Amino acid sequence: MSDISFTPARRHVLGLGCERGTQPAEVLALAVEALKAVGIVADELAAIASIDSRRQEAAILAVARHLAVPALFFDAPRLERETPRLKNPSAVVFARVGCHGVAESAALAAIGDNAELVLGKIKSAQATAAVARGGCRKPDGRYGGGNSRRQPAASRFTFRGHIMHKVIYDTDPGVDDAMALLFLHRHPEIDLIGITTVFGNASVETTTRNALFLKREWNIPAPVAKGASVTIDAARAEREWPAMVHGDNGLGDIEVPATIDLPLDPRPAHRFIIDTVRANPGEVRLVAVGRMTNLARALKEDPEIATLVKDVVIMGGNFYVPGNVSPVAEANIHGDPEAADIVMTAPWKVAVIGLDVTSITTMSRSYLGRMAAEGDGAVKLLDALSQSYIDFYKHAVEDGMMVHDSCAAVYVVAPELFSSISGAVRVVCGGIADGQMIIKPDGRRFPPGDWDDRPSQIVTTGIESEKVIDLIRDTLLRV
Ligand code: BDR
Ligand code: CA
Repeated sequence: MSDISFTPARRHVLGLGCERGTQPAEVLALAVEALKAVGIVADELAAIASIDSRRQEAAILAVARHLAVPALFFDAPRLERETPRLKNPSAVVFARVGCHGVAESAALAAIGDNAELVLGKIKSAQATAAVARGGCRKPDGRYGGGNSRRQPAASRFTFRGHIMHKVIYDTDPGVDDAMALLFLHRHPEIDLIGITTVFGNASVETTTRNALFLKREWNIPAPVAKGASVTIDAARAEREWPAMVHGDNGLGDIEVPATIDLPLDPRPAHRFIIDTVRANPGEVRLVAVGRMTNLARALKEDPEIATLVKDVVIMGGNFYVPGNVSPVAEANIHGDPEAADIVMTAPWKVAVIGLDVTSITTMSRSYLGRMAAEGDGAVKLLDALSQSYIDFYKHAVEDGMMVHDSCAAVYVVAPELFSSISGAVRVVCGGIADGQMIIKPDGRRFPPGDWDDRPSQIVTTGIESEKVIDLIRDTLLRV
């Protein structure tokens, strides 16, 4: 048994019932339709509730996973006997035809009196019809017509499948890396279990020092492991650090002590990744927002981890927009193309969050300033270290900045804010297109080529930028 709290941002329960044998994809489609019908987006959901749906548990858990909310499985007899009612949520109720009352009684159980409020709001569309057919709980405990007075129900639930995303954050802080770090640290559904550093926005000594500095300033419990300082192909020529973007010290040249008195994890980053993935099989989500060197090293040393991670979310690449370090390449991929190709072609699930979506997701100086005024010291520090990065972006953004790495962090909890295509992805290694990522979209036929027999990955091509920015704000302002 566990408890769930309802915040103003997440106050809706989706009551979900489905007939035996319904496929998860169908349940998901119906759930999404119901949410649309009542004008509620997934990140306003606190939970999915279901009652006596044990045979459909897998389908409901799949929907819960997709919507990144916990699934609550109610048990009718227990419902009558035990525990306090949950406070203050409203509900969306969706009953699939054929299981009258089931879904809304689950929601009623979760929300008690407040149900009426939202049930009353459900108008038109299929969801309304389903609610009307399903009826509601009467004082005698039976289900009745949709308009009768609802009786507060004592609630009891078994809390299963609660989604806590276990994240290892592979990063080169980096101004936008810093914002994403605070997001991962503060999001209630993310368990940040490790920070691994890599060279990129500065040397690995500097990015590691920065990670320790932010860990100390923001009180982040996750261990920090130091990673790669050179490309996976050591023969590649070294390049200058992008000091004009992130400052000489990688954090916008705010004052940062030369050393931070905190211990590092004794393992190199790639070993930390391997050990942590093996200790949590099927659970770890790797969020990589720098060069892909640590991930490629981990794969080289222990290829089996590809089958043991839950998935990989990367910030990198560009597909239908120009690059930012060459006409065709983005910085993280261009910084170590061979490593990126290893990552993209390994048999794991990768979601690519590239410039197609990050370059249109910007936060203005004034928006960040308002956050800083409202927020605590952590947000004020973020505001301070972002100022010169915002200055750098004046060529492309009107007094604001692209929040590249935070888009990848947001994808972990809100993939529904992105649209995507899928296909095998390769990285050009060498020549004038060095570091270009190219997708062969699934379903397109070409003569035999270098994309054949490579895993199909997700490439994001669209984003609901305003919602992403607001989710970042709401998360950073949580304390
Ligand atoms: C990426 O490169 C770095 O400058 C940023 O931190 C981000 O990860 C954007 O191209
Ligand atoms: Ca980065």
